[in-house]
Amino acid sequence: MQNSLQHLKSFYITPETPESYFLSLEGIEGSGKSTQIKFLEKILIKKGYRVLSLREPGGTEFGERLREAILKSSTPLHPLAECHLFLASRAQLLKEKILPFLLQPKSIVILDRYIDSTLAYQGQARKLGFKTVLELHQHNPLNILPHRTFYLDIPLEVSWERQNLRGQEKDYFESEKADFYNELITGYQQMAGLFSDRILTIDARGSVEEVSTYIEQDIERFIK
Ligand SMILES: Nc1ncnc2c1ncn2[C@@H]1O[C@H](COP(=O)(O)OP(=O)(O)OP(=O)(O)O)[C@@H](O)[C@H]1O
Ligand SMILES: [Mg+2]
Repeated sequence: MQNSLQHLKSFYITPETPESYFLSLEGIEGSGKSTQIKFLEKILIKKGYRVLSLREPGGTEFGERLREAILKSSTPLHPLAECHLFLASRAQLLKEKILPFLLQPKSIVILDRYIDSTLAYQGQARKLGFKTVLELHQHNPLNILPHRTFYLDIPLEVSWERQNLRGQEKDYFESEKADFYNELITGYQQMAGLFSDRILTIDARGSVEEVSTYIEQDIERFIK
């Protein structure tokens, strides 16, 4: 499977401003993305970087309206409709926020979910296929990939335990059943294999501190 997707990777690029970095965090609900982003912001600011953290879908006025449209949808959306809404939000976010910020030196953008979420959710779980989703991202600016992605890997049971502890009302994706979540995990793991240079898989069952330490050690290797 992955061999037949390799050629699609050639359409992708990363931003090139010296000393500026684009990072993303990925993982199913409750994997610890928001928790680790707060930690990352602190260590990067301490290193003297300007940091902009954004979430997907959303992050722009138009994107937040799309976020509401998707996450509050009372009817199941067609997978292609769902996918295109995410892509519309992403293109706008790149244009308005991510790319202008990364043009400045010593700047870091941290994304809470990005292309790998679309590959896992719409590509795998909604069955559009990785090829379709990768092809939809071929054109600028959607072909821009992060320099580094932290995939926080947890099993379904841990996700549910943490979501129950948090005790919020379930949204559009959170009310999906076990099969859907297992598909997401499969999707993420496959993408971690395909983009093994970019995506670092982290066993996120450990404590908040254990996961943070792992992320920090990796950051120290490529952000000075
Ligand atoms: N390593 C950890 N061990 C135990 N609990 C954790 C860990 N990391 C995060 N949590 C807790 O689990 C819950 C979910 O974490 P968090 O909100 O960071 O996940 P998330 O990936 O951002 O989820 P979502 O996709 O729903 O936004 C929070 O209550 C958080 O305090
Ligand atoms: Mg979160």
